[in-house]
Amino acid sequence: MNERRILARAPSNIAIVKYMGKADVARNLPANPSLSMTLSNLCTFVEIRPSAESRLVAEKPEGARGESPSLSAEGAAKFLRHLARVFERAPTLLAPFGVVVRPAEAVEIRTANTFPAAAGIASSASSFAALTLAAAAYAAEDVEAFRAVYAKDPELRRRLAALSREGSGSSCRSFEGPFVAWDGERVEAVESALRPLSDLVVVVSAGEKKVGSSEAHRRVRTSPHWEGRTIRAANRYADLRRALARGEFAALREIADADFRDMHRLFESSEPPFSYFAPGTEAVLAFLGSFAEGNAPIAVTMDAGPNVHVIVHQADEERWRRTLADRFPEFPVLVDREGTGAEFTVTGVAGGEARS
Ligand code: PMV
Repeated sequence: MNERRILARAPSNIAIVKYMGKADVARNLPANPSLSMTLSNLCTFVEIRPSAESRLVAEKPEGARGESPSLSAEGAAKFLRHLARVFERAPTLLAPFGVVVRPAEAVEIRTANTFPAAAGIASSASSFAALTLAAAAYAAEDVEAFRAVYAKDPELRRRLAALSREGSGSSCRSFEGPFVAWDGERVEAVESALRPLSDLVVVVSAGEKKVGSSEAHRRVRTSPHWEGRTIRAANRYADLRRALARGEFAALREIADADFRDMHRLFESSEPPFSYFAPGTEAVLAFLGSFAEGNAPIAVTMDAGPNVHVIVHQADEERWRRTLADRFPEFPVLVDREGTGAEFTVTGVAGGEARS
């Protein structure tokens, strides 16, 4: 048996223009283009190693940080289905890059998240991106050949991103960074002239979500505000690309604000309506709103959850962390920075350990 072990690490990402609603449910094609900032330390590790039968092991991978999450039976089955999808597609996906694939074999998967399970941070983007990369690297006959292409040819990242999208939509934006655009089948890094940014996550509530994202994607179509959503999001997407190219933080702030409010208004006007807001979310938003009105360089957004993401220049990160911690001592603040996307290490093949 081949003793190769692959350890992939993929970060989470925070959308400024949100993916909400699917154009094709089976293939996870989005109703509108989206654009996100890739994070770095809020991430998932996935390790793949040979085994007698394919299974998920509830242990932390060797060399990983964080904690092994407890997956539901449904979550575990979805993960294993995606593993099978990557192994099945690997030969056609890797052939154009001159990478040969070896026969599929049974493997064990171990996974860990650096963000606490109770932080209310969605892990599907980071975990599916890490799984896709780990499985593709594992499948390559010559992992060093795979590594070389992965390091220098962005097209391989785009293809892996498209495959990852089929497991979890937003995971396709975790292969590059700091800014990544997703439009239909296409995923690509976009140029930004902004100074380096940080994301401060105010963890207002860490509880389990009542409405999962698949259900949210379905239900928003019942909202009277669904009409026009695709166009509103596509316009913001175009505006954001322009703002990034010009380094206009104030425009990013306006777009982030308009789009997360648009998405949450869809949730609240769906049939039946739902809300992710928790006691405290409004107070945090109001507090931050007072700074935004004063033109402070902060952008605020929320995902399908109760927590508030505050995007600031890295140079101001500590000052804002303190401001938030002083005003809301009851809410933990996770601090992360923009990053460059998924990567992997190999152990167990000749030559020991190497990093992508
Ligand atoms: O990738 P999914 O199906 O879990 O959808 C996530 C959608 C949002 O996080 C709410 C927005 C986004 O673009 O990431």
